[in-house]
Amino acid sequence: MTQKPFIALDFPSWEMTSNFLDQFSESLHVKVGMELYLQNGPVILEKLLNKNHRIFLDLKLHDIPNTVYGAMKGLAGFDLELINVHAAGGSIMMEKALEGLYAGTPANHERASLIAVTQLTSTSEEQMQIEQLIPKTIDESVLHYATIAKQAGLDGVVCSPREASMIKEYCGNDFLRVTPGIRLAEDDAGDQKRVTTPHLARELGSSYIVVGRSITGADHPLHAYERIVKEWEGKA
Ligand code: C5P
Repeated sequence: MTQKPFIALDFPSWEMTSNFLDQFSESLHVKVGMELYLQNGPVILEKLLNKNHRIFLDLKLHDIPNTVYGAMKGLAGFDLELINVHAAGGSIMMEKALEGLYAGTPANHERASLIAVTQLTSTSEEQMQIEQLIPKTIDESVLHYATIAKQAGLDGVVCSPREASMIKEYCGNDFLRVTPGIRLAEDDAGDQKRVTTPHLARELGSSYIVVGRSITGADHPLHAYERIVKEWEGKA
């Protein structure tokens, strides 16, 4: 079954978030990132859960293994769909993140899927090579991070749809490809570098798409969302 797109709620306040969500009558898949979470705290998660939205908590944890273990253990108390770390934090950090997630998930609750950010969709190959000193292609770097994330027991990765088919082939269909960097054909890419349309993301094998500004910045967010869902579901 095609999963609903996650809408990136990149707003500074609950008031703006809530005004935005009021335009939709259904419960949604939403992504809470650092802008909303860090200015409003965990209460934001409760508010969204009370409205029956499913949450991807996108805090991209990246710290020493013990610290990430503790943070994950605490966050596991919320009923989240997806949560993430940076693969660049290393295998041991990813293993400890998963341990923390198991330790903190209440009995009789399903634990959130844990995924690892590979290379941010705003990073170009040239930037990666010059700034991170990785003398490889983006594909090689993303696939390497996906491989170590899988070995650490994680459920999938965040990557661009452009890398999704390769990861599906090497890591298997069950290993999730969660893909931001989604734009409608006429939209501005902004700071994103490795973008595709929802239609192409579907063809390339994304498991979930994440869409922010193409919906939140649209003149008619509901219409933009409906168009994206149609493309993503292969109906347009
Ligand atoms: O507005 P836009 O559609 O570019 O938003 C993409 C969202 O996905 C942002 O919230 C961004 O933080 C997040 N993200 C990303 N690239 C990653 C991981 C998360 O763009 N690799």
